[in-house]
Formats: sequence, C-alpha cells, structure tokens
Amino acid sequence: MIRVTRRYRFSSSHRLHANRLSDAENASLYGKCNNPYGHGHDYEIEISARGPLEPRSGRAVDPAALDRLVEEQVLRTFDHTYLNSESAIFQELVPTTENLARAVYTRLQASWNSVFPGPWPVLDKVRIAETPRNIFEVSENDG
Ligand code: NI
Repeated sequence: MIRVTRRYRFSSSHRLHANRLSDAENASLYGKCNNPYGHGHDYEIEISARGPLEPRSGRAVDPAALDRLVEEQVLRTFDHTYLNSESAIFQELVPTTENLARAVYTRLQASWNSVFPGPWPVLDKVRIAETPRNIFEVSENDG
C-alpha cells in the first residue's frame, strides 16, 4: 500500500462569527478573528490518497485524476471567495479551518467514485495549513 499526497493552494477570506452568539460572546470567543471586515489566508492544502501499487503504471494514484477532482470540488468552490457568504455550507457553520477541512473532505469523498470508480485508491487524508503554525487534518476514520 502506498500513500500519495499532492499539495494545492487557494486563497480565501473569512470572519469567525457564530450567528447564534451575541456580538460580545463572539468577540470574546474569537478575538481579532471576529473583526467585522474579515481577513484572508493563503491556505495550503494537502490531499492524500492510498492504494496498492498498480503494476502496469507503477503508480498508486493517477495524479491528473486527483487534480481534476480537487480543481472541481475544492479550488473552484473556495478559491478567492469570502467563505462566510459565498459557500452555502458556511451559512450555518462558522468557517473555522476545522470546519473547512471537514467540508473539503466531505466534498472529495462525495465525488470520489466519479473519478476513481474502482476499489482503489481511497481518500486517506485532508490536511490544511491555514498559516505555517495552524494545521488541521481530517482522516478516513475521523468521522
Ligand atoms: Ni483566519
């Protein structure tokens, strides 16, 4: 079994703000991340897939197929957007990078079979670095 990881980048802005909390609670919970004007991040995202080595190609994952899926399901959806208002999912959820990582994982998983119809490879992990010091991971069995 081989795990293959590809790295992508996208830029988005967000504001951490929970609609069901008061302004004071939001300010206390999120601090400067609650700034009403929002702020941007250059997210670095790593997608890992896992499968057996295919003897004919010597590969475990077709990188072009993975790129196509990530382009369609992640980059086109989130790049150069204001996450709070342009992504339906963040009408309800606070666009923390925890929630973003889960949303990316869910989107990739939902369309995975259209690009990888066989039993392998499987989606193994989504890792998003919001900043060099803030890194969030969602794996196959994390739920
Ligand atoms: Ni932020």
